[in-house]
Amino acid sequence: MQHQLKDKAAVITGGTAGIGKEIALAFAKQGAHVAIFGTHAERAAEVVALLEQHKAFPTQKILSKLVDVANKQAADAAIQEITTAFGKIDILVNNAGITRDGLLMKMSEEDWDRVIAVNLKSVYNTCQALVRPMIKARSGKIINITSVVGLTGNAGQANYAASKAGMIGFTKSLAQEVASRGICVNCIAPGFIKTSMTDVLTDAQKEAIMQKVPMGRLGNPEDIAKAAVFLASDWSDYMTGQVLTVDGGMVM
Ligand SMILES: NC(=O)c1ccc[n+]([C@@H]2O[C@H](COP(=O)([O-])OP(=O)(O)OC[C@H]3O[C@@H](n4cnc5c(N)ncnc54)[C@H](O)[C@@H]3O)[C@@H](O)[C@H]2O)c1
Repeated sequence: MQHQLKDKAAVITGGTAGIGKEIALAFAKQGAHVAIFGTHAERAAEVVALLEQHKAFPTQKILSKLVDVANKQAADAAIQEITTAFGKIDILVNNAGITRDGLLMKMSEEDWDRVIAVNLKSVYNTCQALVRPMIKARSGKIINITSVVGLTGNAGQANYAASKAGMIGFTKSLAQEVASRGICVNCIAPGFIKTSMTDVLTDAQKEAIMQKVPMGRLGNPEDIAKAAVFLASDWSDYMTGQVLTVDGGMVM
């Protein structure tokens, strides 16, 4: 697949690190205009510079916006700003996410609320801002980055698993609402991927995870970016409401 996203305009939340950064890079290589949303100015500037180096065409626009996507007004304003800058948004990747792990017995209300707000409410925020113009354009691709944990649950991650399972229910519902308008809404459910989110795991924890992965390795952000290019491109035009699991065979 080459220049599969030429002339498309994409927004990637949490595009300043890990999986989101790799998706942004893959989209730029495929010819898309790319805007990354994040909360870290220095990292955002680095990613913009990287994307500028790797874009397929000199005319491609690369932008970043500092925004807490859990905040409805801020997310709305950011989507409006990028729509004005690009003239449209064809592709939205809801990738921003955090963990605040702990057994439920000890989980604070703050840790519950923040994980639900950043991981799930953000999806409502960005999709609501964008769904009307996508309906008007009669096209659009929305990709929500959930997790295998949203399918299976995980001890110590009740807040995270609830947010990720919530994204799946949201995706299937919105997919049904907008399928007749040419808009595809799908999820990618990564397994364990090498990023700062999983760097905090101990070697023993990583070893235990690897035992559950038939392919015997952790995933790379590139493994997820390839799936994102597929779901963002017209190669997946007859797919909606799906959860594409990219996990080395962990959940079958
Ligand atoms: N790494 C994994 O193993 C794994 C597995 C399954 C799912 N995921 C999901 O993939 C996504 C990306 O994870 P990652 O591993 O790259 O994590 P990461 O911590 O490396 O990157 C997360 C990104 O989200 C951004 N972000 C956090 N809060 C934000 C907010 N309020 N507003 C805007 N941006 C915000 C961060 O700045 C960062 O750029 C997350 O949704 C995560 O839940 C990751």
